[in-house]
Amino acid sequence: MTSTFSYLPPCNAAVVSSSSLRYYLKPKFPALSSPSTVPFRSKTAISCSPSAHADASVQTDFCFLKKREFVFSAALPFLLILHESVEGFRAGAAERLDRSEDERIREEVRKVVTKGRAPGLLRLVFHDAGTFEMNDNSGGMNGSIIHELNRPENKGLKKSVKILEEAKSKLDLIRPVSWADLIAVAGAEAVSICGGPIIAVELGRLDLGKPDPEGKLPEESLDAVGLKQIFSKKGFATRELVALSGAHTIGGKGFGSPIVFDNAYFKILLEKPWSSKGGMSSMIGLPSDRALADDDECLRWIKEYANNQTVFFEDFQNAYIKLVNSGAKWKS
Ligand code: HEM
Repeated sequence: MTSTFSYLPPCNAAVVSSSSLRYYLKPKFPALSSPSTVPFRSKTAISCSPSAHADASVQTDFCFLKKREFVFSAALPFLLILHESVEGFRAGAAERLDRSEDERIREEVRKVVTKGRAPGLLRLVFHDAGTFEMNDNSGGMNGSIIHELNRPENKGLKKSVKILEEAKSKLDLIRPVSWADLIAVAGAEAVSICGGPIIAVELGRLDLGKPDPEGKLPEESLDAVGLKQIFSKKGFATRELVALSGAHTIGGKGFGSPIVFDNAYFKILLEKPWSSKGGMSSMIGLPSDRALADDDECLRWIKEYANNQTVFFEDFQNAYIKLVNSGAKWKS
């Protein structure tokens, strides 16, 4: 190949450097650089005009090479441009396909997520991902919740799965989507439809296809120390535990509007309405929510989020992404 280039007319040297030629020609143009010269060679040799070379075979070879180099070198810049645009097109198409695939998943999910369904869908995320444990890398966001719906802690989640089945059956017709991805996107959509932060969830998780180990989700009777311990095993700091607990701002546990994602959860935790006698105030919050307000370390973040919704949204967004990536196995 290298010797062939000694015949290139000077104009080509100006078009492409020899290093780029080597790069492009060797691996990318096997038809030109491979030994497929036989038919091409004989054809060119026949049409070559006589020259000063005495030996006919040398002359034939010389004419062939001259002609071949000329045709090759004249075509080279165009081939390179063509090659680059084909490669560029391919990369662009792959990227477009991925982007439109992601968008298609979000679109189908959007069709089934409503404000009324949002609390159940967000809870579904925690019950799939919240089984994660760092020490043995077990559990996590792997769609295993689909196989765990009869567990007592997952009571009420069947209807949320059913809602997503509608989206999944449509998506699977074109390209299968994992439960893990679907649930992660649905939770993010649930948050944003209720006025919370817009969370960009990465896609490509694989489903485990079987249940995770039991007993990994926190019980509502835990105190702050117990909650901090269980969350730290899952890789979450106290600040993240408090931010994620802010998910209880939606749903039926009595923190502000059940369908508005805001910082009402923290404002109400500071008021501690359950301490006052009478009415419905004692019904507000789970024991685990109330426990947070009794812990100094948690209280610091409850105050911060009650005073500054923007900080809550930012922290929730980051903790949510961490949650939906916990223990996830990704498509290669
Ligand atoms: C801190 C430990 C947590 C405990 C002990 C806990 C426990 C509970 C319990 C017992 C319920 C009531 C379920 C029912 O209505 O029967 C609930 C509701 C809910 N949980 Fe949690 N949870 C925790 C953390 C989280 C996290 C981290 C999220 C999401 C990021 C979350 C999202 C929700 C949502 C949205 C609801 C309302 C569901 C509805 O009203 O349909 N929870 N949680």
